[in-house]
Amino acid sequence: MTSEHERSNRDFWDADADNYQVVHGDQLARGQVWGVWGIPEADVGALGKVAGLDVLEYGCGAAAWAIALEAEGARVVALDQSRGQLRHAARNAVTACASVSLLCAAGESVPLRDESFDLVFCDHGAMSFCDPARSVPEIARVLRSGGRLVFNKATLLYYLCWNSTKRKQSRRLQSPYFDQRVFDFDEGTTDFQLPYGDWIRLFAAHGLVVVDLVELRPPVDASTTYTEFVPYEWARNWPAEEIWSVRKR
Ligand SMILES: C[S@@+](CC[C@H](N)C(=O)[O-])C[C@H]1O[C@@H](n2cnc3c(N)ncnc32)[C@H](O)[C@@H]1O
Repeated sequence: MTSEHERSNRDFWDADADNYQVVHGDQLARGQVWGVWGIPEADVGALGKVAGLDVLEYGCGAAAWAIALEAEGARVVALDQSRGQLRHAARNAVTACASVSLLCAAGESVPLRDESFDLVFCDHGAMSFCDPARSVPEIARVLRSGGRLVFNKATLLYYLCWNSTKRKQSRRLQSPYFDQRVFDFDEGTTDFQLPYGDWIRLFAAHGLVVVDLVELRPPVDASTTYTEFVPYEWARNWPAEEIWSVRKR
């Protein structure tokens, strides 16, 4: 059953999809670029080789990543709960002559078989907007033994330094580290975070072992279409985004 925060997040993305693609579509269309600063996977190496793998993109938006990975030889299912976003994904797939399977479904109850994927991944996708207590077991269920979950999201530090009165990123902590799991974020979404130890214990409880945590730093002179997300100077000094990589035993 779709949860209340999933419904409100779906409403947000349905309403925002067209504008989001106008503003960010060109940056995303570069394909296989991570996060706000569009850092190439070739430089990060978080996914590695995907040819021959069954891959699930978990909150695909317009499916730029999914289309690029299919071109590398992966069999990709691109899941998103927003029909507005999936309309763009369908258009992009036709333009690229890609046979990515698009699936309209909510991340906290994935209508896919147990142990059917080698890799589940997202870039600021459903892992940022689902309750981890529900998303992590779902992903552990659909992963094969030895399969990986790789996801990029904003850091907890980023949220803790968000000044909601001034509506901008600050250099000071604005909220306590402990206790807050749900952030009703300024742009209109409900986002989830956990303290680091809680992530590791939650993964372990579902048979997932942390392999790596890459804190993204924009390269010198990087630019972005996500100008409202974080100032360049902030992201050069503190990690605003992080890519988790975990493996199922
Ligand atoms: C910031 S976009 C990221 C998508 C893509 N990586 C991009 O950069 O455009 C977040 C996506 O996650 C999707 N999403 C949010 N919550 C979700 C959920 N519970 N289940 C499935 N998709 C969800 C949204 O609909 C949206 O398309």
